[in-house]
Amino acid sequence: MPIEQRLGVNIDHVATLRNARGGTYPDPLRAALLAEAGGADGITAHLREDRRHIRDADIDVLMGALSTPLNFEMAATEEMQAIALHHKPHAVCLVPEKREERTTEGGLDVAADLDRLSDFIAPLADAGCRVSLFVAADERQLQASAQAGAAVVELHTGAYCDFHAAGNHPAAEEELLRIARSARFAAELGLEVHAGHGLSYETVSPIAALPEVAELNIGHFLIGESVFLGLGPAIAEMRRLMQNARR
Ligand code: PXP
Repeated sequence: MPIEQRLGVNIDHVATLRNARGGTYPDPLRAALLAEAGGADGITAHLREDRRHIRDADIDVLMGALSTPLNFEMAATEEMQAIALHHKPHAVCLVPEKREERTTEGGLDVAADLDRLSDFIAPLADAGCRVSLFVAADERQLQASAQAGAAVVELHTGAYCDFHAAGNHPAAEEELLRIARSARFAAELGLEVHAGHGLSYETVSPIAALPEVAELNIGHFLIGESVFLGLGPAIAEMRRLMQNARR
């Protein structure tokens, strides 16, 4: 029996819509509560350095109102570390961040930044946060993540989803194999394995089927699909696909 797999719903793009008009609508908290009611096992929110979607006040409100764990995504900067230590969310997911990118583009280069990341993770782990590192499917990065003291790695599924969208099925298959091997390797290192980025109804099943993957984090597609279906039904369909894939 594979381990239970959780679905974390990323609500960043509800905030993107809100910020497009200034104002307070649509409210990311309302989306988070609906996502919880619709079967999300956790809520993910990324407080970017430029605050382009989620803002500090959103994190304050989410911390007080959620009944599922908050996965607080952030760059490994001193500013973000102070915010995380103030709130002590259940999980902190460290991601690379570039101002000019549209979304998180690559994984963290943990191997190249091992000493700094080890020092960065230690106080967060001491504060009780489960620290996760968002990395590409690359053994060097996984080994470094374990050395750095991370409890979790989140495997970047963006390249697999991009190849799939471009119709490059051999490259998508190759990337899937890399992800599958990495999931096994990470689990052997004692890391909890998550996966996410770019997942949709079309791409989720082979990732959900990986026995070591304990959590998927999905945002943009679910928020987009909720325009047509509503958030609850969009999440329910994703969960159905995940469960089928694990049978
Ligand atoms: N996981 C991580 C670490 C991310 O940075 C993102 C994007 O914010 C996601 C998952 C979700 O990606 P998407 O919005 O493409 O589903």
